[in-house]
Amino acid sequence: MRNLSRVTRVEHDMTNPAAAPVNNTMTIAELTQNPYSIYKKLRSESPVLKISAIGRTMLTKAADTRYVKMNPELFSSDDPNTPMERAFQAKTLMRRDGEDHSRLRTAMMPAMSPQSVKHSWADRISDIADTYIDKLPAGQTIDFFTAFAGPFSARCVAEVLGIPKASDDDIQRWSQALIDGAGNFGGLPEPFVRAEKANTEINACIADAVIQCKDTDLRNALAVQINAENPIEMEHIISNIKIAIGGGINEPRDALMTVIYGLLTNPDQKEAVLGSKELWGQVFEEAVRWVAPIQVSSRLVKQDTTIRGFYIPAGDVVMTVQASANHDEEFYENGHLFNVFRKTNRHQGFGSGPHFCMGTHLSRKMLADVALPKLFDRFPNMRLPNPETVVWSGFGFRGPLNLPLQLNQ
Ligand code: HEM
Repeated sequence: MRNLSRVTRVEHDMTNPAAAPVNNTMTIAELTQNPYSIYKKLRSESPVLKISAIGRTMLTKAADTRYVKMNPELFSSDDPNTPMERAFQAKTLMRRDGEDHSRLRTAMMPAMSPQSVKHSWADRISDIADTYIDKLPAGQTIDFFTAFAGPFSARCVAEVLGIPKASDDDIQRWSQALIDGAGNFGGLPEPFVRAEKANTEINACIADAVIQCKDTDLRNALAVQINAENPIEMEHIISNIKIAIGGGINEPRDALMTVIYGLLTNPDQKEAVLGSKELWGQVFEEAVRWVAPIQVSSRLVKQDTTIRGFYIPAGDVVMTVQASANHDEEFYENGHLFNVFRKTNRHQGFGSGPHFCMGTHLSRKMLADVALPKLFDRFPNMRLPNPETVVWSGFGFRGPLNLPLQLNQ
């Protein structure tokens, strides 16, 4: 296995590089349903491939996806062709580069740093987990998605962002509407209408929350931004909160369900994890590697370049497929299998480079330190009687759409 940290650029020196091959048959429906078998084939046969259906050049090898994200001067996040700006009614920090990006990121980071997660949020997250676990009906079969994973993620993120008055349902609905709008490449009217409604409601919610947070010593994301010594502009504070709503609910929700599915379908691993109590961190990272909640990212090519010997012209958009990178045979043995005992797991599920996920520490606290140990303490014999009924779906974002669990008494 290669050490990913040492990999920089994988390229053949060619004076007249060929254009990347083009695939005109692959559909978004296929990628949504069963992407991993497609990526396996692409990694071995065509790791740089322009896909007509998405209008982007897909990169499926781990060295290439990391290389692109680590070189923002050449591969910009400012892709003008995405519907994200319309969906969020803002150009968010995810679509900015350099100083412009880091100014907005730095403004919100104090609420999500490891110290802040430990000192400001750990106890609150623990209380939320207790409350939501107490609501679970012992002895019955539940859909874990709606009974715990969704509401728990929504409540934790609402508190950390400083909009605790928003209900779990509202937060989840807003998040989905923003994501659907941002992924609405076909320009359908309905997702934009939903995103617009969500924006109106979020704006009202934030306006009210600003009054509660102004001139307080609260440490939530809204408070640290508005009470900063040199605050960034209000429109950016609002778009920072929106990007965390759009990017902070589905991912912990889906990672939590993936862990539970992974452990309950691998009883030997579950037994070892419950016996040791020290493996929850590894378990969480393995779930994020195995089924990356954010599967792909896009970057705009700023100058003509080559990747693996293929000519990639300025103006093209490359799509880094971290889902595929995380299964790359060069770095992972049997990457398609859930295995909490992997010796090394330098996955790209949280991204790489300047846009590395801001919610990484928060998610680790929410799931590895709090929710998972508490859930398995209370329900050590929970069962997934029919794993084949779990429906996995998603191309941009991926996770189970349901998780029917039978809880012990
Ligand atoms: C298991 C949980 C999570 C996963 C797997 C995840 C994954 C990611 C990935 C892959 C990116 C980079 C996207 C890119 O390069 O274009 C990202 C960015 C981001 N994430 Fe997360 N995320 C998670 C949880 C969260 C949470 C809980 C929050 C906040 C409440 C959050 C906030 C953000 C923000 C604000 C960014 C943009 C950072 C920037 O552009 O500088 N994430 N996330």
